[in-house]
Amino acid sequence: MRYPFISGNWKMFLNKTSGVELAKALVNGTKDVKDRDIMICPGFPLLSDVAEILAGSQIQLGAQNMYYEKEGAFTGEASAEMLMSVSCSYVLLGHSERRHIFHENNELINKKVLAALQGGLKPILCIGELLEEREAGNTESVVREQLTTGFTDVNAAHFSDIIVAYEPVWAIGTGKTATPEDADNVHSFIRKTVAGLYSKSISDEMRIIYGGSVKPDNIDGLMAKENIDGALVGGGSLKQDSFIRIIKFES
Ligand code: 13P
Repeated sequence: MRYPFISGNWKMFLNKTSGVELAKALVNGTKDVKDRDIMICPGFPLLSDVAEILAGSQIQLGAQNMYYEKEGAFTGEASAEMLMSVSCSYVLLGHSERRHIFHENNELINKKVLAALQGGLKPILCIGELLEEREAGNTESVVREQLTTGFTDVNAAHFSDIIVAYEPVWAIGTGKTATPEDADNVHSFIRKTVAGLYSKSISDEMRIIYGGSVKPDNIDGLMAKENIDGALVGGGSLKQDSFIRIIKFES
């Protein structure tokens, strides 16, 4: 049984005042929600303040990135331990904006996955193909490489803590969602790939969430699909009504 996981990535939006206000509204608006996990990823400077609001609620906290070293002279970076100390449970790794704007590659992302697990954070490994890769018929080879390298040296025992987010780059912030069928096909391929790397029971248990222009009007169709276990929502997580409706998907 894979428990639905609905998460919001605030990216570089909201400040302390607006972030705290949204977090309060989300806590109030989800009190009656049962049987699903909820998580939000505010920007680094907001984490402590949002953590205070979320304390005692069912909404968990995540960070949008981290560095793999434990500590040191790495200006501008944050370690797993730092994120744990402000109550983060999850961390997004390999988000397409990190890959394409900040040139993170699969090898670096793998180091981060290993460091997150070692530090006690649950990694959400973000993968997905560019439009030209999809059009050239390379979606599966791109995704396979992102998974194979991203999970190098990851112990099977850690898989209960790992989530994969499939975010086709051409669907992020563009208003173009993958159809539920397209997304489900890639999710099914991801599950088969993880079964090949580890085992069928591990891949059957692993949650694979979808991201890319998820909105109140498409969440129900996406969540109805067998292999879609949740959502990683960008723009649609920045307004309380929109994100609460997404959290309360019906399928
Ligand atoms: P949008 O929902 O704004 O397309 O962003 C998706 C995303 O990148 C979430 O991590």
